[in-house]
Amino acid sequence: MTTTNDAPKTLWLGRWGFVLAATGSAVGLGNIWKFPYITGEFGGGAFVLVYLACILAVGVPIMMAEISFGRRGRGSPIDAIRRVVQESGGGGFWSLFGWMAMLCGFMILTFYVVVAGWSFSYLWKMLSGGLVGSSVDDMAAIFGANNANPFNLGAWSTLVTVLTMLIVGKGVQAGIERSVSWMMPGMVVMLAILIGYGVYSGGFGEAFAFLFSFNTAGLSSEGLLAALGHAFFTLSLASGAILTYGAYLPKGHSIARTTFSVAIADTVVALMAGLAIFPIIFANGMSPGSGPGLIFMSLPLAFQAMPFGTLFGVLFFLMLSMAALTSSISMIEATVAWLTDNKGVSRKQASWGVGILLWVVSTLAMLSFNVGADWTLGGRNFFDWLDYLTSRWMMPLGGLGMALMAGFLLRNELFKEELGLSNAQHALWLFMVRYVSPLGIVLIFVDALGLASL
Ligand code: PFF
Ligand code: NA
Repeated sequence: MTTTNDAPKTLWLGRWGFVLAATGSAVGLGNIWKFPYITGEFGGGAFVLVYLACILAVGVPIMMAEISFGRRGRGSPIDAIRRVVQESGGGGFWSLFGWMAMLCGFMILTFYVVVAGWSFSYLWKMLSGGLVGSSVDDMAAIFGANNANPFNLGAWSTLVTVLTMLIVGKGVQAGIERSVSWMMPGMVVMLAILIGYGVYSGGFGEAFAFLFSFNTAGLSSEGLLAALGHAFFTLSLASGAILTYGAYLPKGHSIARTTFSVAIADTVVALMAGLAIFPIIFANGMSPGSGPGLIFMSLPLAFQAMPFGTLFGVLFFLMLSMAALTSSISMIEATVAWLTDNKGVSRKQASWGVGILLWVVSTLAMLSFNVGADWTLGGRNFFDWLDYLTSRWMMPLGGLGMALMAGFLLRNELFKEELGLSNAQHALWLFMVRYVSPLGIVLIFVDALGLASL
């Protein structure tokens, strides 16, 4: 059973289908939850600078390659990479990067639904008035209590799992495209309002200095690796999402232009989130390094001090939950597409099948916050391992494979056709995927493995 590259089964319906879906995938918990807390953990400005450099020098060129792979190969990462590599006379080995991407997307989703579950549960707390009148210390206690009961926490991550599989099960157009077209816009507005509050709360200057004082002296190898990994994570790269969405992109849409819009939107939202959150942290004497609970403890505190705080809080967590959903659906589309294309199952069957497996593994990840907190290996619990393996290793490695394939293995004509850039632009892109992106990734790996000091 072969499908020709020119006759895809599915394409985005609307002019903005791909941009909305890809932006929906990119903008998510990575921007609003993860970026602020890892920036806090790794000390602020220096981390932000390396992160921005990684987005531009590694993320953007690789995203262009990934979308090209998808559109050229018209299928899941495994199928698309196989076809595109075959077209250039390469071997089956390279499909391994497709397998790794698919596995990576699934692994990310198993812990992503837990964090998305936090967002939904805080939406509920806001709606039901459960946070009213809480002090800084109460907020930490509330976050702890929310995690302590596995049935409570598990119910929320289960809800996210079910919603994700329902949307994906409905199809690319009726499920994914339709949902992103109304979930996307409101978030930016909410964040802008929060920045306004940040200015007024008095901590804005300190927050600005924290984020943008680029003092690279303080950055560790770990911080470098985290910045690189987060650049991949935040742009949804090397985990099947962007590539598979690219498989539905009609010919004639500019891959370069969409890549830049997605990357810019993603970066702006992350920086806005940082500017919204850190003033609250500083104004209330909280620690920027408080870890994964950072936004769930700081933001509700700010909301209740604001006029109409409950209303804003409800809207914010609604938006955050939607941002999470528009990302979670993209993480599983690769696997669902692969199953329907290769295993003779319907999209519904594939979604529910994957959903059950996802539920089992995500339940184990969820237990890391209560009964399984002590199930650790090398100081990391199961949730931490999923995050660590995917962000620090699998995504950078997958990106490296992508860059090497695009830069050296494949016929250059192929990318000329897909990208449609001017000669000078194309040469620049090629230089980036050949040398700059791979070298950046390798250097950071070498540093992280401690090989540099041998
Ligand atoms: N980019 C998403 C975020 O920043 O929240 C996370 C993500 C989505 C990672 C899709 C990987 C992926 F395939
Ligand atoms: Na992101």
